[in-house]
Amino acid sequence: MLACGGPSSDKDPNKRTEGDPGSAKAQKVAQMKMVNDYHSYARPNEAKVTHLNWKASVDFESREITGTATYSIKKGENAERIVFDVRELRIDSVVTNDGGAVSFELGPDDEFLGQPLNIPITSETETVSISYASAPGAEALLWVEGENPFLFTQSQAILARTWLPCQDSPGIRFTYHAEVSVPQGLMALMSAENPQKVNESNTYTFKMEQPIPSYLMALAVGNVEFRPIGERTGVYATPDVIEAAAYEFQEMDDMLKEAEELYGTYAWGRYDLLILPAAFPFGGMENPRLTFATPTIIAGDRSLTALVAHELAHSWSGNLVTNATWDDFWLNEGFTVYFEQRIMEAVYGREISEMLATLSYQSLEREVEEIMDTNPDDTHLKLHLRDRNPDDGMTAIAYDKGYFFLRMLEEKIGRVEFDQFLKTYFQTHAFEVMDTERFVDYLKKNLLAEGQFEALKIEEWIYGPGLPENTPSVQSERIAAVDLAVNAWSNGELATAELAWNDWVYQERYRFLTRLPATVKTAQLAELNEAYDINSTGNNEVLFAWLQQAIRHDYEPAFSRAEQFLIEVGRRKFLTPLYREMKETGKEEMALNIYRKARADYHAVSTNTMDALLGYIPEKES
Ligand code: BES
Ligand code: ZN
Repeated sequence: MLACGGPSSDKDPNKRTEGDPGSAKAQKVAQMKMVNDYHSYARPNEAKVTHLNWKASVDFESREITGTATYSIKKGENAERIVFDVRELRIDSVVTNDGGAVSFELGPDDEFLGQPLNIPITSETETVSISYASAPGAEALLWVEGENPFLFTQSQAILARTWLPCQDSPGIRFTYHAEVSVPQGLMALMSAENPQKVNESNTYTFKMEQPIPSYLMALAVGNVEFRPIGERTGVYATPDVIEAAAYEFQEMDDMLKEAEELYGTYAWGRYDLLILPAAFPFGGMENPRLTFATPTIIAGDRSLTALVAHELAHSWSGNLVTNATWDDFWLNEGFTVYFEQRIMEAVYGREISEMLATLSYQSLEREVEEIMDTNPDDTHLKLHLRDRNPDDGMTAIAYDKGYFFLRMLEEKIGRVEFDQFLKTYFQTHAFEVMDTERFVDYLKKNLLAEGQFEALKIEEWIYGPGLPENTPSVQSERIAAVDLAVNAWSNGELATAELAWNDWVYQERYRFLTRLPATVKTAQLAELNEAYDINSTGNNEVLFAWLQQAIRHDYEPAFSRAEQFLIEVGRRKFLTPLYREMKETGKEEMALNIYRKARADYHAVSTNTMDALLGYIPEKES
């Protein structure tokens, strides 16, 4: 699949060693260089970027970002080139400070990786300036047209290179300044110091003074307003949702304080939230200083704010201490789910966070079973994504198996000591990369007592399949009560009117709906909907669980609600199970009919998955 000359065939990160190879520093450097990121063409040991000066202009008509990316670089001895990642970019010219316009070279194109952009440099080269344009179909970008134009980027994992030539590897960090021109009346926002008002000049300037990896580069352009929440927190959204958003996320400031209480000072200055159009393919994205989020978490009752806790937690796990490669993705996401749970516990109490943990276990168990059937190696915490799309790693393994691994450590070692360990871990590795092997080393040296590595089955957790037998179990009385209710109700022992539905919070309702037995009758679903009007719930998690059951058990009165939901919402986590459910219950035609209407409004992240799922062959764009 890789074009010849791709990174897997000719890349040797250990070619050059620095200084005295015996010194402790040299060893540390050498160890860091061992990390080979198969998903980038960059050769940071030869030359790497340290700062970006980006000038760009956003054109909705041509769906193009055109601009110049001027990088300051740091070279190894005798470096003769610097290599960038680009994908479907039109490179117009490359200029260096010492060479003027230089002749660059684009290598072969790989389906996921795009192309290497080779730029010749000399010992005098300090900056390289790349003028370019993005393609209208650039995968990171979603352009919303019409009365309320909106553009947003989604760079993780390796899509930054579709809108910015960059060394697109999580181990390479740089600071940036930017100047972005946008159409009249729209605001531009980035993962940086942001404006709070629309300005007259249509040009916005940005500064990110802390070094970040390219996957955290982000841009959004739209008609948005800002509302402060606390001193350091606030929310941006379009005028139609700004009030609801300001209400929904009032607790953001408490979350930030609790997070700092747990694992140390917040390093990024402000923490704001941007509510994106519903086409955003994810729940949230932890862009530094400005989390991007789906509007589907606005439930009206602040019940889906765990997502904010999650993205906020990434300000430590991920943004401060960053996975070295996508094979180490669990170091980002597993730590973040653990931290998210701790924030939820601190803000809402253990009863709520244990309900969330139960749901996390439920999805983990199901997904482990599913993956064990097809590719057991994908249940290892340490992944094997070479020659694959790193998107394949986005399963419950990195997230929930990662979470339960850390929870196991907490329970065996004790919370006080474990918290101290994590706090120190974030402090000592701030603005650095971490790979699984170095983490295991650090764990052995700083947390585990003699024999604990074996006793706690750490090797098995990280490099083995499935769930080790010391996986913690979660106790939630409220969830246990729901499970009893599900059984009694499905057997006809409990009447629909006797369900505590109206007293239940979202976690309980979600549990109820996802636990219905296969034998549930269409008539029972009808009764449920008549009693509690689930079709009209404002909680999209509950709605999603409900629609999945309705599709599975042919409850036709919910089909138009399903269609409307699938057309309005582009969040992949909801789309995949719903379309799959249709497909698996003989309603493939229905799935395709809806998909044909909805597809144009989805982001590429979602259409890539849905095309494959539904065997849909898109018409070639000319
Ligand atoms: N960083 C991820 C999103 C991501 C991961 C995008 C990998 C592309 C590649 C983000 O923090 C995340 O995990 N989002 C979750 C929500 C969270 C509450 C589990 C999502 O979008 O579903
Ligand atoms: Zn995450």
